[in-house]
Amino acid sequence: MNFPSEFVWGVAASAFQIEGAAREDGRGESVWDRFCATRGKVRAGDTGELACDFYHRYPEDIALMRDLGVDAFRFSVAWPRVLPEGRGRVSAAGLDFYDRLVEALLEAGIRPVVCLYHWDLPQALEDEGGWPVRGTAEAFARYAEVVVARLGDRVRDWITHNEPFCTSWLGYGFGIHAPGRTSVSDALAAAHHVLLSHGFAVEVLRSGSPGVEVGIVLDSWPVHAASDAPEDEAAARERDGVANRWFFDPLLRGAYPKDVHADIELPVLDGDLATIATPIDFVGVNNYSRHIVGAAGEVRAPTGAMTDTGWEVYPAGLGEVLLRLHREYGVKSLYVTENGAAFADVRGHDGRVHDLERIDYLRDYIGSVGDAIEAGAPVRGYHLWSLLDNFEWAEGYARRFGLVYVDYPTLERVPKDSFHWYRELIAAQRAHARGDPAGRAVSRRQTT
Ligand code: FCB
Repeated sequence: MNFPSEFVWGVAASAFQIEGAAREDGRGESVWDRFCATRGKVRAGDTGELACDFYHRYPEDIALMRDLGVDAFRFSVAWPRVLPEGRGRVSAAGLDFYDRLVEALLEAGIRPVVCLYHWDLPQALEDEGGWPVRGTAEAFARYAEVVVARLGDRVRDWITHNEPFCTSWLGYGFGIHAPGRTSVSDALAAAHHVLLSHGFAVEVLRSGSPGVEVGIVLDSWPVHAASDAPEDEAAARERDGVANRWFFDPLLRGAYPKDVHADIELPVLDGDLATIATPIDFVGVNNYSRHIVGAAGEVRAPTGAMTDTGWEVYPAGLGEVLLRLHREYGVKSLYVTENGAAFADVRGHDGRVHDLERIDYLRDYIGSVGDAIEAGAPVRGYHLWSLLDNFEWAEGYARRFGLVYVDYPTLERVPKDSFHWYRELIAAQRAHARGDPAGRAVSRRQTT
């Protein structure tokens, strides 16, 4: 497995999941703070108050990234830290934090990849209607302006949104994420305004910092039919329409698919679709698994391993979705912006975490990326989810995705065996890129 020499190896995280410091330096309330404070919404009543305390410990975590040898760190900016009420008053202290973070990354030789929205909407905007109202998209454009004015001189790689499907459907349709609404029309209105705000932000980022590369991150799980019976295939096509094409099509073709949600009126104004389809520099793919769907609904994978989140280990799906975006949608530049696995990691008697299942998972998924590249997919980088164990949304701290184990009571960081494995993989790829024969083969050594 040899990747192109300019291939970017990274790790990914998001603000609410790691930062903590929820009430410090004037940060405003987000929908996730409110959701966590609502009984029964998050497992064990976990909250983001402290999380990994990245807000204070980022120098230590950047040292870990440096040791790991990554080229890039994908993180998100917390909108309510920068604009506590969502619009209007800018918090200088909030912006200063991201400024310090970017500085520290650049000093460590790590490229900051900045995502503007990873689900932590300011509660004040939710109180005005949230993503189902157009005003939120307009407020997002203003927020993008503020952030790019401060960081645009040093940050080249920008992501507008993380997983619009999850923002809209998990948050407004199924009620399992903040803000917890359960309305199909709200979910679709939210999706439209998220996409619209993406288009607005592409323009804002480009005019704020010429030469930037701007993209969006889409959750992209292949949908397979449970059998080749026509009713199963129809159900799979419909699910693919709702989860994938509903987002791929407007962004990459300028139109919503006609066969999906045909009975629902959307709040689309003239010009919106052109804004949404503003050409972008890359598409980010988040992939962990696949869906198998039949006429009766979602079907469990017949065989194979599962991760701790109950997601099937299906490495070929990552390559499949990368190739699809390239072949079917003509995408010329792709990143894997998230991929990884939760397992029930424990510290052994030796104090270490021997997460061999994660190593197997990563090896096979990264292998699938390599296969897709060989088959012609223009993949420029891979961001592993995640550097640290962190707050896994409605699952709280119960799901561990990190290369680094976080001992929550003490916040001690313990690199897992997968950390050493990834470090070795990156080092071997570098050596190969330099033409050093030692880097020819990626070894599978599982511990150091
Ligand atoms: C993705 C999210 C990310 C993390 C992983 C496991 O859907 O973008 O924040 O929760 O799943």
